[in-house]
Amino acid sequence: MAEVVIVPDAASAGRLVADEIVRLVRANPATVLGLATGSTPLPVYEALPARLAGLDVSRLRGFALDEYVGLDVSHPESYRSVIDREVVEPLGLDPARVRVPSGALDGIEHAGDDYEEAILAAGGIDLQILGIGTDGHIGFNEPGSSFASLTRVKTLTQQTREDNARFFDSVDDVPMHCITQGLGTILRARHLVLLAFGEGKAEAVAGAVEGPVTASLPGSAIQLHPHATVVVDEAAASRLRFADYYRHSYAHKPAWQGL
Ligand code: PGA
Repeated sequence: MAEVVIVPDAASAGRLVADEIVRLVRANPATVLGLATGSTPLPVYEALPARLAGLDVSRLRGFALDEYVGLDVSHPESYRSVIDREVVEPLGLDPARVRVPSGALDGIEHAGDDYEEAILAAGGIDLQILGIGTDGHIGFNEPGSSFASLTRVKTLTQQTREDNARFFDSVDDVPMHCITQGLGTILRARHLVLLAFGEGKAEAVAGAVEGPVTASLPGSAIQLHPHATVVVDEAAASRLRFADYYRHSYAHKPAWQGL
């Protein structure tokens, strides 16, 4: 099962995950990161620039999880814009080495296959950052997504559109469709790091970590992965049945294991 790390707050989680990313980049400057968007990964992105200062990031690569379909890339809420603003620019990365699936209508039929090829050509993703939706989605794999799915177009649930309406003028402006790495794509990454903060995520986290493995809660796919780490604050951990055990085992974790 996933290793669960319960931290006091989102900033602590950000520092913990940023330290692990720095460890990877020191060992291999050509590390391939899987990047999430939304509010959850921000503490990681905020902790990274100071830690990466002085390290060679010219060979670092990144692959975003998902993108809206039909939203112009120049729109401030396209995930291309978000990744550029939150990751590429502050970290001084080469934008050409950080990919986001193409949500352009022109060529959308093969955009998923193109993305899969690009990930394979880069040697696969070393560390995939994940958030989780209140409906249990990871990436934009909504309930019912196949565990074998690869990057493809999906229809967003109304719940997700409402959750993301805060980034737009109204829920009607949130696109209906997205293109997302599949659960099969995500499961190929070498290390999954799922973050969640706040009471609103507690049920989804409990389902993902301790519930049955089911396509009805796509985040539960992490239970199939040999190296998945879930970093949560107390509120997001509040429905975990074995929280005391997770605290105990993390407190006694051998230092050589890393995150
Ligand atoms: P959030 O979204 O980080 O904005 O809460 C998480 C997700 O939908 O995966």
